[in-house]
Amino acid sequence: MTAVIFVAPYGLDSTMRFLSAAASLPDVDFGVVSHESAESFTQKLPPEDRPRVTGYAQVADALDPDHLEAGVREVSGQLGGRVDALLGILEPLQESLAIVRERLGIRGMDAEEAHRFRDKAHMKDVLRANGLPCARHCLATSPAEAMAFAAEQLPLVAKPPAGAGAIDTFRIDEPGQLESWIAAAPPSPERPLLLEEFVQGREYSFDSISAGGEHVFHSISSYAPTPLMVMETPWIQWTVLLPRSIDGPEFEAIRTAGSAALTALGMTSGMTHMEWFRRDDGSIAISEVAARPPGAQITSLISYAHDIDFYRAWAEVSVFERFDPPERLYATGAAYLRGQGDGPVVGVDGIEEIQNELGDLVVEARIPQVGQPKASGYEGEGYVILRHPETSVVADGLERIVSKLRVHLGHADGREDGS
Ligand SMILES: Nc1ncnc2c1ncn2[C@@H]1O[C@H](COP(=O)(O)OP(=O)(O)O)[C@@H](O)[C@H]1O
Ligand SMILES: [Mg+2]
Repeated sequence: MTAVIFVAPYGLDSTMRFLSAAASLPDVDFGVVSHESAESFTQKLPPEDRPRVTGYAQVADALDPDHLEAGVREVSGQLGGRVDALLGILEPLQESLAIVRERLGIRGMDAEEAHRFRDKAHMKDVLRANGLPCARHCLATSPAEAMAFAAEQLPLVAKPPAGAGAIDTFRIDEPGQLESWIAAAPPSPERPLLLEEFVQGREYSFDSISAGGEHVFHSISSYAPTPLMVMETPWIQWTVLLPRSIDGPEFEAIRTAGSAALTALGMTSGMTHMEWFRRDDGSIAISEVAARPPGAQITSLISYAHDIDFYRAWAEVSVFERFDPPERLYATGAAYLRGQGDGPVVGVDGIEEIQNELGDLVVEARIPQVGQPKASGYEGEGYVILRHPETSVVADGLERIVSKLRVHLGHADGREDGS
């Protein structure tokens, strides 16, 4: 038997799919470390998975390596004293997981490797040292350093060195904007500010699987518009498209650089999510790489494109270091539905029309329901996933959805915001 511990601070839906996949692997003793009580966590598990969880520890803060280590030791005791794999998919958790792996001698990514994937300035230093393309950057530790970079490089992007979810990333067009930022939160050696050349162009992901340090699979998707634009424009409905063919010359540069970047950063076994740009002049720049599976339904999209379950594939490669690359049989993509204004969902327009036109292409959908609260993140109130062997059919379908479907938000008194 192989002893596997999964760290799930909160039982979020996206986390639970990966957790269930790992729990149902054959010949595995499975335990969980979480912030939740065993009772409330069990409620969130599908009934068939409940008997599979044979170890459990509740900790106050899984992001703290000491707390996490104590939790892992407790669960390991319940599993017979061993831990063969320590897993988790949340981005902020990756360094603590690696530190505890190192402390307890568990195979997998170590602390230095995890840090390279978390610290965007360090990551760019490593990529550039290996001759890989990325945006110019400066990790400013003082206001003067930040202003000096801005004197040469505008527009630029300012972000914390280890952010996630595009929450604190901002575009800066004029020195005055940077000045007010600095006045509010002056960069210091303890709180450095990452500044980057603003890369103008289209944004894509390069999602991969590595087994035993070898890059064995990748998928490419294109975002429209870019995640930064989506964050800046709360009502914009956006799309992710996975073209069926990714073997052509248009992706040659990222196939080579993407694979080399994983080697340079020290990827071991598991899935990664890389974001990259194609500038208007055709050149590419790697933006960031996370040593975890992609979010925003992209793991599901990769599953639809290849007709296999990538949640399970992630679990298998993470635990047993094996993966057989499947054929890419379909183009697929998601349209993210976002309401305008404030308040809960009061209605959705265009569903019937889209159903009539595109119903045959829909493989999964979450249509916003009346009364549902406004979403806090950029994924919005719902989504529709399409699939077809021809890329242009999916691309046109996604376009139709974001231009036709309208989510209306409003208030109980009938007041409605947005159009
Ligand atoms: N150097 C850059 N040039 C242009 N856009 C950028 C740059 N860096 C980030 N962005 C935009 O901001 C978004 C969020 O930045 P990112 O570094 O990916 O942060 P996070 O880790 O929070 O996802 C990116 O998806 C991209 O749209
Ligand atoms: Mg990002």
